[in-house]
Amino acid sequence: MSTHVPVMLNEAINALAIIPNGFYIDCTFGRGGHSKEILKNLNEDGRLLALDKDLEAIKEAEKIKDKRFEIEHASFKNLKNILKKKLQKPDGILMDLGISSPQIDQAERGFSFQLDANLDMRMNQSQKLTASEIVNNYSDDDLVKLLYDYGEERFAKKIVKSIIQYREEKGKISRTIELAEIINKAVPKFDSSKNPATKTFQALRIKVNEELLEIKEVLPAAFEALKINGRMAIISFHSLEDRIIKNFIKTKLNTDKVPKKIPILQRQIKSPPIKVTQKMQTPSSIEISKNKRARSAKLRVIEKILEER
Ligand SMILES: C[S@@+](CC[C@H](N)C(=O)[O-])C[C@H]1O[C@@H](n2cnc3c(N)ncnc32)[C@H](O)[C@@H]1O
Repeated sequence: MSTHVPVMLNEAINALAIIPNGFYIDCTFGRGGHSKEILKNLNEDGRLLALDKDLEAIKEAEKIKDKRFEIEHASFKNLKNILKKKLQKPDGILMDLGISSPQIDQAERGFSFQLDANLDMRMNQSQKLTASEIVNNYSDDDLVKLLYDYGEERFAKKIVKSIIQYREEKGKISRTIELAEIINKAVPKFDSSKNPATKTFQALRIKVNEELLEIKEVLPAAFEALKINGRMAIISFHSLEDRIIKNFIKTKLNTDKVPKKIPILQRQIKSPPIKVTQKMQTPSSIEISKNKRARSAKLRVIEKILEER
């Protein structure tokens, strides 16, 4: 059975600078690699709340019998509401974005263009929207926009033309492999190590799970929730995710940028509420050689130093 090797485990745990009796949140439990390490760093008064959208991840989490640990089946976009029910503010929040290895490796989840399955791609099995709905019902304009925006696919128009033609001539596209073949035939052949379906599958996965929108929603809510001196560590896996995180940090750092030549007293300038505790980190070459799924990871860490007014 496929398992998940946690990415940048030591780096993320060090970045959180865990307080033994603190309250921590792991927004993306997955198979619990990071959660278990956080628990090791807590004493008996410490607490960890983990979230995941995926029912398989929840099943795994329920095996952890530890009174300091709690799991909720929820999207992290609901963090603000989830935390309203808690008495404490978190000392640290971790997000290890994207999908887990079991999600990719279990054919029936429909995330892989190499494994034959229904076009599903839902992280949360209780939601309605699947990749099949999008591929078979979106207009050509909407599909092209999706492939550009979420896949940065330069052959978006060619791919969509083939999808629409297939839909008109043969009917529904139901299987992952069927879609991968349509894409393969649509794009010019290059000597590339990447499968031509990579970007389309990425775009569909992002849309089905509203991955980028949910990151945009959680970042301000998580930052607001943190205690002063609380830290947030975020691991992302592609540039679309990282761009959102980078921009979020940038806006927090530029709280009160006063244009030059405007006469203003130093004390009238609002200090940024955030500190970037370290530069963006990437996995070591040793980690990448042992786990190639780590290769695109980026870790960014911030600390909250002021409450915003
Ligand atoms: C990369 S894996 C996390 C792996 C985990 N850190 C570990 O070591 O096992 C990402 C997990 O986050 C979950 N996930 C992704 N987006 C989510 C969201 N918006 N809300 C809750 N869980 C989410 C996925 O279902 C997946 O299980």
